[in-house]
Amino acid sequence: MFKDTLTRRHILSHTLAGGVAGASYLGLTGQLSAEATGKAGKAEGPKLKIYDDNWMNREKCDIQLIEWLDQQRITGAAIYHFGTGGHHHVGIECAKQERRSSVFGITASSQEYDNYVQLVTERPAVLRYYNVVFGDIYLLNEKLLPTFDVVTLFHLCEFRGPQTDAYGGLTDLAVANLLTDKTRPGGHILFYTGSFAFEPAKAVIAQWEKQRRVERVGEYKSVLVYRKTA
Ligand SMILES: C[S@@+](CC[C@H](N)C(=O)[O-])C[C@H]1O[C@@H](n2cnc3c(N)ncnc32)[C@H](O)[C@@H]1O
Repeated sequence: MFKDTLTRRHILSHTLAGGVAGASYLGLTGQLSAEATGKAGKAEGPKLKIYDDNWMNREKCDIQLIEWLDQQRITGAAIYHFGTGGHHHVGIECAKQERRSSVFGITASSQEYDNYVQLVTERPAVLRYYNVVFGDIYLLNEKLLPTFDVVTLFHLCEFRGPQTDAYGGLTDLAVANLLTDKTRPGGHILFYTGSFAFEPAKAVIAQWEKQRRVERVGEYKSVLVYRKTA
């Protein structure tokens, strides 16, 4: 009876739970672990363009974003934040009692992601308002995104490269368009005039303004503010 009803999944979960039916004995863990770590089959294709650093200096853009939110009295908002940094300033600040804005951050750095895991393990109250994914903004999937009140595109044009093309990553314009589509009418899309890539970003923004219904609101220090009109 046991033999008849046993599936590979049952065996594996039983084993992971400390059971006696050894998956490795059955030749399963090697294969599943290879699949889970991407080592199954030939790993010859282009690899993900990661951010191999742990950015701990809070840039002006992140600091001024919090100032702008406070100036605008924006609380309880849903915010998409491109480029968390290893300091996770935006997530930590937004989670505070006086703001309670929910931040969905993305980082392409495993070190920054590790910091996040440590942060929310120590402070689950932050986790409630701050979720981070390890990913690549150029591989955004619209089906996996909700609608946001505020989107930050501070690092537009900073990190895209030939490697991104090699695996069919979105363009910077496509990223801006996609995240605008995921912004509610009346919501805000923010850029960073202090970015080292602001010159190319300006050209992208000019195209974006023609392709989406947005209006330039003005600047808060080095944060360039747009509103989605419809
Ligand atoms: C210079 S740090 C700035 C961090 C933070 N915004 C600040 O102002 O202090 C750049 C950030 O962009 C993220 N990043 C770089 N390339 C990325 C990509 N392709 N997709 C998502 N995030 C990326 C890095 O992981 C890092 O968090």
